[in-house]
Amino acid sequence: MNSITIKPATSIRGEISVPGDKSISHRSIMLGAIANGLTTVRGFLRGEDNMATMNAFRAMGVEIDDDGETVAIHGNGLHGLKEPTDVIDCGNSGTTIRLLTGLLAGQSFFSVLTGDQYLRKRPMKRVVEPLSRMGASILGRNQASLAPLAINGGDLNAIGYESPVSSAQVKSAIMLAALYADGETSVREPSLSRDHSERMFRLFGAELQTFNSGVTVRGGVELQAREIRVPGDISSATFFLVAALITPGSELLIRNVGVNPTRTGAIEILRSMGGSIELLDERELSGEPVADLLVRSSRLKGVEIAGHVVPRAIDEFPAICVAAACAEGKTTLRDARELRVKETDRIAAMAANLRRLGVAVDECDDGMDISGVERLGSGAVESCGDHRIAMSLSVAALVSRGGITISDTDCVATSFPSFFRILETVSAQAAP
Ligand code: S3P
Repeated sequence: MNSITIKPATSIRGEISVPGDKSISHRSIMLGAIANGLTTVRGFLRGEDNMATMNAFRAMGVEIDDDGETVAIHGNGLHGLKEPTDVIDCGNSGTTIRLLTGLLAGQSFFSVLTGDQYLRKRPMKRVVEPLSRMGASILGRNQASLAPLAINGGDLNAIGYESPVSSAQVKSAIMLAALYADGETSVREPSLSRDHSERMFRLFGAELQTFNSGVTVRGGVELQAREIRVPGDISSATFFLVAALITPGSELLIRNVGVNPTRTGAIEILRSMGGSIELLDERELSGEPVADLLVRSSRLKGVEIAGHVVPRAIDEFPAICVAAACAEGKTTLRDARELRVKETDRIAAMAANLRRLGVAVDECDDGMDISGVERLGSGAVESCGDHRIAMSLSVAALVSRGGITISDTDCVATSFPSFFRILETVSAQAAP
């Protein structure tokens, strides 16, 4: 387990691109694998999470070539997957295990899904329950609420499901199962979560209707292969947005970032804090809105964050917490209980680490209050094995008194293997 020390920076400047969107990359493999014909994907994120998805489909007999530029998926049609001969390891990836559970619920074969020590602690009942209602037989630890999960799929019936949580993984798992169900399946969620599945299903020719925070999918419709171009991941871009906002004298252009409105909550929150972020050259790529982001250092102030914006910024809160720690006044976050069941409990992890850096943080069940400080302290902090905690604390180090050492940073490879290299290229350091 490697640790990394990041020194304070005098500015963050330049022009960068971030790797492809993780959510879209997962979905491109999944839909490509069950479509008819050759799907090509450019801009695919080669992080560990997405490689887990790729390997899962290879294990189910799907030929996937990768020349380092383009991923080519030889789709065998809706019913072309084969029973895997071994357990499928989803690694650290919640998207892989939950979406695959939905897809495998529709297959007339047996499969077992597992993951690393963190994934095996994360709640699976949220997908097992609706999929069981559709007729899938799913067993797992702790009354099928924890992986490993064993799935005996096939013969699904359509359901109407009111999800208690706003979760794109739950919605997408049901949508994938719905492709194999008899009739029309609907999912409604309290507040609209990222809609990449809806957009990509449409692109591949699925029959679906979207309505106010919900979607209906018709079963039995074959999908057609597509050429996909994956935009840069706004979740990865957010670390650099915060880095440039909090480091004085910064100006950074981040090219080709996905700005799907169900994902731009962080931009809205950071702007409401006083952050200067401009969207330039807005365009569309494979059914997804894209723009270049221009960010300049700004004096941030504390804000109140709650309600519908929370699911639209759900992966960005570790980075937003760092912005809040550098803002003038108090930032309050509520309605964010979901953060407790991410790769780690992100409320507890950020609260503990920010306190180590001299920031006053009060935790509550569904959020936290952060009181900004003039300058962050230095010392040792812990990633808790969570990629986004590791990257957020690396950004905090840029404005720390004397540098921060972050433990266990190998996890960064799950979503952003080139993070530290890019951070180094844009950080200017004071002469020794
Ligand atoms: C994702 C959905 C979100 C997000 C995760 C990726 C997806 O999870 O946190 O990083 O690709 O569907 P939830 O559905 O649990 O909110």
